[in-house]
Amino acid sequence: MKPAESDTSAPGTARLGRSVHIAGIGSYAPERVLTNQELEKMVDTTDEWILTRSGIRERHIAAPGQATSDLGVEAARAALADAGLAAGDVDLILVATASPDMLFPSTACQLQHKLGARKVAAFDLSAACSGFIYALEVGRQFVASGTHDTVLVVGADKLSAITDWTDRATCVLFGDAAGAAVLRHEPGRRGILSTHLGADGSQKEILNVPAGGSAMPATEQTVRDKMHFIRMSGREVFKLAVNAMLSAARGAVEKSGLALSDINCVIPHQANMRIIEAISDRLKVGMDRFHVNLQHYGNTSAASIPVALAEAVRMGKVKRGDNVLLVAFGGGLTWGSAVIHW
Ligand code: ACO
Repeated sequence: MKPAESDTSAPGTARLGRSVHIAGIGSYAPERVLTNQELEKMVDTTDEWILTRSGIRERHIAAPGQATSDLGVEAARAALADAGLAAGDVDLILVATASPDMLFPSTACQLQHKLGARKVAAFDLSAACSGFIYALEVGRQFVASGTHDTVLVVGADKLSAITDWTDRATCVLFGDAAGAAVLRHEPGRRGILSTHLGADGSQKEILNVPAGGSAMPATEQTVRDKMHFIRMSGREVFKLAVNAMLSAARGAVEKSGLALSDINCVIPHQANMRIIEAISDRLKVGMDRFHVNLQHYGNTSAASIPVALAEAVRMGKVKRGDNVLLVAFGGGLTWGSAVIHW
C-alpha cells in the first residue's frame, strides 16, 4: 500500500506543511553495567525471576555526578555526527525526561550549554516513557511549519536517581540512557508519516513519583517515607500498557495510509518482554519484525525508543526506504506512536 501524501496527527487536525525526516540518530549509555547477579546481592531476588518476568539481564547505571543532561549531550553529539551537522546548526532543542537535572532550569537548557549550541530555544517535555514520541511530534511541527530547519529531539533519563534500591518490585526494571534525533526537511523524503498521541490523567496512582513537586514538597518526612522514588503497581500498569500500545500502534498505522503488513520494523518501548510479546501476538506482527534490546538496558523511559532505534539502524535492521513503527506507553498515563518512512 502507498503512504498517503497527507494525513492527520490527531483527530480532526490536518497534517500540513513540509515533510520531516530523521536526518541523524544517536544514543548513549553509561559505562557501568549492573547485572541481575549483582542485584541478587542487593535485594531478595533472583536472575531467573527477573529474566522470566521482564526479559532483562543487565542495565547501565550513570556514574556519580553524571546528570540526565550529561547522558543527553552524548546522544545529541552522536545524532549530530550521524546527520553530518554541528552543534551550531541546531535551531531548537527539546528534551523529554522524567528525571530532569533539577526542577528548574530545564535539562534542555543545561544540554544546550554543554553541547555548545547557539542560544536557541530549549525546553523540556514531560510524558514519562512516551516522552520521546511526544517530543518527536512537537519537533516535527516546528520543522513542518517552516519556522525552524534543524530541531534536536532528545529522550534522556537517569531513572537510577529516582529508584528505590531497596524495593525489589521496581529496582530490577530500570536503567539509565539517552537517545537523540535530528529533525529536518529534505525535498523528496517523506520521513514521519503519522503520529498518534494520547493521555489519561485519571491513572496517576499506578505509576508516579509522589513527592518533590508542588503537590508534596520535599520534607524530612517525605525523604524518610521514600516518596521521592518511583512507585508502581506493576500488574495494573502491565494490563493498561498492552491495551494502550495496541490502540496507539493501530492509530498511527491507520493514519499513515499503510497497513501493518507494510511495517518493516517495530520499535516498542522497552519495558517488559512479555508486554512486547503480547503486542506482537495481538497485532499479528511476528517478533522477527520487532527490535528488542531491553535485555541489556532495562526500561530507560524516554531514552528507550531512540536507543533501540539507533541500534536497529546501526545493525542494518532499519534501512533507507523501510517503514518503521514506534510505539510507547508511560506514566501519566501517556501513550504515543509514530510511523516513519526511513
Ligand atoms: N524478585 C522476586 N520476586 C519479586 C520481585 C523480584 N524482583 N518483584 C516482585 N516479586 C514478587 C512479588 O512480591 C509477588 O510475590 P507474592 O505473589 O508473594 O505477592 C510476585 O513476585 C509476583 O509479583 P507481580 O507484581 O504480580 O509480578 P508480575 O508477574 O506482574 O511481574 C512486573 C511484575 C515485572 C513489574 C510486571 O507486572 C510488569 O512488567 N509490569 C509493567 C511495568 C512497566 O511496564 N512499567 C513501565 C511503565 S513506564 C515507566 O516506568 C515510566
